[in-house]
Amino acid sequence: MRWFRLCAALLAALALASAQSPTGKWVAKFSSDDEAREIVLALNVESGGTVTGYVLAPQYEDRIVEGTASGGQIAFVAEREANNNTMRRSNYSAVLEGDKLKLTMPTAGNRPPQVIEFTRASAQAPAPLPPPPPKITLAAPAAVRNNGLAKAPPMGWNSWNKFRGQVNDKVVREIADAMAKNGMKDAGYLYVNIDDTWESTRDKQGNIGTNSKFPDMKALAAYVHGKGLKLGIYSSPGPKTCAGYEGSFQHEAQDAKTFAQWGIDYLKYDWCSAARVYAPDAATMQAAYAKMGQALLASGRPIVYSLCQYGMLDVGEWGAKVSGNLWRTTGDISDNWKSMSNIGFDRQPGREKYAGSGHWNDPDMLEVGNGGMSDTEYRTHMSLWCLLAAPLLAGNDLRDVKPGILEILTNKEAIAVDQDKLGKQGVRVAKNGDLEVWARPLADGGHAVGLFNRGEAAAKVTAKWSDIGVQGTHAVRDLWEHADKGTVADEYTVEVPSHGVVMIKIAK
Ligand code: GLA
Repeated sequence: MRWFRLCAALLAALALASAQSPTGKWVAKFSSDDEAREIVLALNVESGGTVTGYVLAPQYEDRIVEGTASGGQIAFVAEREANNNTMRRSNYSAVLEGDKLKLTMPTAGNRPPQVIEFTRASAQAPAPLPPPPPKITLAAPAAVRNNGLAKAPPMGWNSWNKFRGQVNDKVVREIADAMAKNGMKDAGYLYVNIDDTWESTRDKQGNIGTNSKFPDMKALAAYVHGKGLKLGIYSSPGPKTCAGYEGSFQHEAQDAKTFAQWGIDYLKYDWCSAARVYAPDAATMQAAYAKMGQALLASGRPIVYSLCQYGMLDVGEWGAKVSGNLWRTTGDISDNWKSMSNIGFDRQPGREKYAGSGHWNDPDMLEVGNGGMSDTEYRTHMSLWCLLAAPLLAGNDLRDVKPGILEILTNKEAIAVDQDKLGKQGVRVAKNGDLEVWARPLADGGHAVGLFNRGEAAAKVTAKWSDIGVQGTHAVRDLWEHADKGTVADEYTVEVPSHGVVMIKIAK
């Protein structure tokens, strides 16, 4: 009996010890919709306190490359292959509290660190993750025919900037209702684009499904079409989308058919996890994009094709050859001056040669109205995007939009610049410190000009006709004041507020 008690005590002590070791598998479940989504944390504390293991989330695999544990405190560095094919290192820390483990996730940008509570799933040392499979290399594709769409830069709305994973059927319908009524549709905004997080898994035949946020995509398309608008959707050439949902990898033709059957008019195709399966060379990436370009054409439905691979591997050189109508030029925009002005002013020069009717550089969706910038800054954002011949995809909540914001988004004179038939992307023609002049020639022989002040105080900005390639005296119209400014010789000087713009048209 005494022997038995001793054994039981020993077992209990062992169980306690293992329960108090971070070694094992830990799971944190989260759900923004019906998909069972979880993060798995696998930890193995070796003698001496060295930590190995991994973090597996729907959208990434982080392998621990160094780490230590001591007395319930764990710190480790993990490495993953990021969507832009670079290796990204992240610092994690964790605290063991009984049978819970609180993991402080690496911070992104200036967001506060997020702490996630994990529950123990096992106390056994986890097997190491198998090495990633070898990357697929594809031969450079034959050119895919142009689809004849997006003669002017596409205009519409996209769910991501405002709604992220919270987009659903109801939101999309309400946005379509709003656009049809509030002047957005009249101003030319046509596409209502669902970004990431609509996807579910595939059925036995491999057909992609929608999750419970989108109970009937075909009915939703019919509804949006009934408003005189078009419906867009999102996928990835990789197995997973950027938010970790099902991508189109090895289902390209099937998905294109499904989208066509649903009545989809626009596809944003986002590289994301394709970085984990395809070799990081231009030929392979082109071939991956050409597959979907071909599949969309074969679907028989006109579907605008939007490439999203953050401007890697000189996409301007080949985006149109894989049937792309637009391609992102950078990583994601954020709703702040620094991000917008960096993407708009600093990251676009040099790309103008790639833009033209049917194929456009995409400096990313608009943040106008999302609250992180002033109306002056949003006017700069809108003006710059119009001068850049950029796709105009509003990214705010159009169901509840302040009149001042609506006025910015629906400025028909600015939009006319964006949509101008000549299709020539504007360029910076002068720079004097924080003061910049951008211009683009227009189909009617006139020029659209933005006089920008990126500085912190109001300043006078001069647009010289000679910089723009114009001579003599011309009628000038202010495109935000909607006022004629008389005829002006040689140059136009105007006071521009900090972070502001004056946008004019110089008549022929
Ligand atoms: C990437 C894209 C974004 C958005 C998200 C969705 O980050 O660049 O525009 O589509 O994925 O997950």
